[in-house]
Amino acid sequence: MEELKNRILQDGLIIDNRILKVDNFLNQQIDPALVLNMGREFAKRFADCPIDRIVTIESSGIAIALAASLAMGNLPVVFARKKKSLLMQDAVYTASIYSYTKEETYVASISKSYLHAGERVLIIDDFLASGAAAVGLVDIITQAGCSLAGIGIVIEKSFQPGRSRLEALGYRVESLARIAEFRDNKPVFKE
Ligand code: G4P
Ligand code: NA
Ligand code: NA
Repeated sequence: MEELKNRILQDGLIIDNRILKVDNFLNQQIDPALVLNMGREFAKRFADCPIDRIVTIESSGIAIALAASLAMGNLPVVFARKKKSLLMQDAVYTASIYSYTKEETYVASISKSYLHAGERVLIIDDFLASGAAAVGLVDIITQAGCSLAGIGIVIEKSFQPGRSRLEALGYRVESLARIAEFRDNKPVFKE
């Protein structure tokens, strides 16, 4: 997605040759027009694919999932929570997710009320790095008896194992910007 790649080049900051900071349009301040266009691009890429529901994870995935939903005809959007809820333990599906950037494991959960067996689910997230978050969401969706339509990612760091991990499991991944490497403090995009 050219608009996104240009915005990354313009506003992205690279930290330690490893992390791309995009706080000024995606992870803290949000550019709604750009995010709505991301939603339209996901709708185009998954147009061949029946989808009943969109699943994401708080917090940065929510705005993107909302935009994708509107572009796809207002599908229900459900986000996994990262904070353990002490109430209602039996009423949620959970998955343990290890965050490489934060070096800690957290439990993601979604209420059983919001995932229905037999539905086709699209996962949306902002970044794909190690793939741990996506694998955790797939686990939750599978527990609920849903099938996975695919995984839509805004920014993929292709030099990390996320995509190959997901493809090895047979899942379709569509990323709006794929970064092959960071060179001289600039992202180099994969064609
Ligand atoms: P994974 O989800 O692919 O396994 O990756 P990892 O554990 O490394 O990522 C943990 C968090 O860091 C995720 O957000 C992920 O989106 C984000 N992340 C990974 N690489 C980058 C990067 O290069 N730049 C930025 N800005 N974020 C990155 P999160 O902690 O779950 O937070 P939230 O923003 O969704 O609340
Ligand atoms: Na994030
Ligand atoms: Na995220």
